[in-house]
Amino acid sequence: MRLSTLLLAAVVLPLAACQKPAPQEPAKPAEPTVTTTAPAAAPIAASSTVHDPSSYAEPEKVVVTHVALDLGVDFTKKVLAGSATLDLNWKDPAARTLVLDTRALDIQKVEGFDGSAWQPLTYTLATADKILGSKLDIALTAQVPKVKITYASSPEASGLQWLTPAMTLGKKTPFMFSQSEAIHARSWVPLQDTPGVRFTYEAHITTPKDVMAVMSADNDPKGARDGDYSFKMPQAIPSYLMAIAAGDLVYRPTGPRSGVWAEPAMADKAAKEFEDTEKMIATAESLYGPYRWGVYDVLVLPPSFPYGGMENPRMTFATPTVIVGDKSLVSLIAHELAHSWSGNLVTNSSWKDIWLNEGFTSYVENRITEQLYGKDLADMENVISQGGLAKDMGDLATGDQLLALAPLEGRDPDEALTQVAYIKGQWFLTFLEQRYGRATFDAFLRSWFDGHAFTSQDSVEFERFLNAELIAKNPGKTTEAEIHAWLHEPGIPAFAVAATSKPFDGVDESRGHWLAGHMKPADIDTSKWNTQMWVRFLEGMPETLTEAQLAELDAAYHFTGTANAEIAQRWYPLTVRSNYLAARPAIAEFLGRIGRRKLIMPTYAALAATPDGKVFAEQVFAKAKPGYHPITTGSVEQTLAAGKPKI
Ligand code: BES
Ligand code: ZN
Repeated sequence: MRLSTLLLAAVVLPLAACQKPAPQEPAKPAEPTVTTTAPAAAPIAASSTVHDPSSYAEPEKVVVTHVALDLGVDFTKKVLAGSATLDLNWKDPAARTLVLDTRALDIQKVEGFDGSAWQPLTYTLATADKILGSKLDIALTAQVPKVKITYASSPEASGLQWLTPAMTLGKKTPFMFSQSEAIHARSWVPLQDTPGVRFTYEAHITTPKDVMAVMSADNDPKGARDGDYSFKMPQAIPSYLMAIAAGDLVYRPTGPRSGVWAEPAMADKAAKEFEDTEKMIATAESLYGPYRWGVYDVLVLPPSFPYGGMENPRMTFATPTVIVGDKSLVSLIAHELAHSWSGNLVTNSSWKDIWLNEGFTSYVENRITEQLYGKDLADMENVISQGGLAKDMGDLATGDQLLALAPLEGRDPDEALTQVAYIKGQWFLTFLEQRYGRATFDAFLRSWFDGHAFTSQDSVEFERFLNAELIAKNPGKTTEAEIHAWLHEPGIPAFAVAATSKPFDGVDESRGHWLAGHMKPADIDTSKWNTQMWVRFLEGMPETLTEAQLAELDAAYHFTGTANAEIAQRWYPLTVRSNYLAARPAIAEFLGRIGRRKLIMPTYAALAATPDGKVFAEQVFAKAKPGYHPITTGSVEQTLAAGKPKI
């Protein structure tokens, strides 16, 4: 995956600053009532006192502790409309302003609760910043315990996608879903949109009668489907984990505390593919302690979902492209489940430290994969991802090759999401595991999760904890210079041990024989090859092949038109670079059907590299665009405009 340079063109509607009159009567002093309904949640505790540059919020003055949403899902207007009521915990006695993050929201009214009644409040909505959206300043005469904002989202909200019935499997019911990470929650809820603040939430959601709504909360598979739904999320979460989806969704259990939600035509297939979910939960629990979120469901989204998966608590949102029939891509579920510890329980306090979420999660994911599917598969996945990291690293500025990044001042946090955070982060933890031994390292990692549960943390705290709890207690295993190299120096340390895979050696050998003309495809025994081996086969090909070679591969393996998008992701760019025009109709179909960025961007980038390819890509994009998510649209537009391939 190469999310790094996928700069997102921010989808922002310029909003004029607007002033509303102040209430006539000053609000009465606030009652010291702070709702904390979270049984398992400790109070808000960001370790970092550094301000999150990706948010206008001022959590040092006041923090939102609970959000109550009352929203209608309007498929005709493509908006969520209603209100958000925020419970406030004031920290600074002198503070009289509540600053919230918004993006392209239509703010209609702001009120404060003075202990007995709601009073209108004065507010200022600033002109939109391209990256951050519009700062909402709410002026107060007293520190009220609650503020209510009446608003509607924009049809172009960066964190929502609206699908017409034609864009769904069933073709009868519209569909909508959110994607809040990194800073898109503000495009559908006005809030303190920083991972340094945690809050509980509840929601009342109305939809057309035949539409089912779900959230990252307590979904009830047996609840009435009547267009009127209520949710509670009693564990404190950061804003980027707020999530909602609505469509023709049905539920299938996959275990005592897990299940899938999907369109009816996909539900049984999804339940079969993800039938190991309960085993995954049990494996993670055996390593890192109890699963603290009650149920773990997976929502299978339409193929336009811009990511592979999103770890929304209690309900992972997932691409249907991992459902290939042989469970070969279910590491994605292991990954999103792993976030239940790394990310959702212990959260990066700002986006510069995203490796604490994604690097830790990639490590845990691989441990689950190894335990359930064996070391061969775990090794294959590591070889592929380390290869991807090496390729990416070369294009990154040295400052972006560090795990502990500088604050993302003036930068889109989605830009900080590179393979460095994922794979260098994972590799660092694997290095520690190798030096300290599994038993010691597993206990250490568990104590990191337990000791920081329901808090937001940064790299400084991790380094302190690492020194105190692992290095000082087990002297002589690592040096200060080695730890420094991993966290604060560019590149991959020279002493890092690269992953290897025996099955891949066999694949490499076969490819070599075929390229040398010593073997025909029929001579290669591919009967036991999984997706990863096919990926290896293709990734090891030269930059270009001849038309005859590509045709020979196609005749034997039917790559063109493959239903496996991981294979398509590697095959189509090779055909483009080799000017193999026979694949073009299938490329158009692939790019039109799938919106997951990782899968389609390499093909767009390869096409953008030649004038003729670019014209073709532009035609394909023009047709596909109405079905793409705003995040994918932004990436494709950037790649096509860049003149040189950028993925
Ligand atoms: N949390 C990420 C997705 C994300 C990160 C979205 C940052 C927006 C900003 C999720 O857990 C993830 O990493 N998804 C991967 C799949 C994984 C198996 C590597 C993806 O979507 O490809
Ligand atoms: Zn992740």
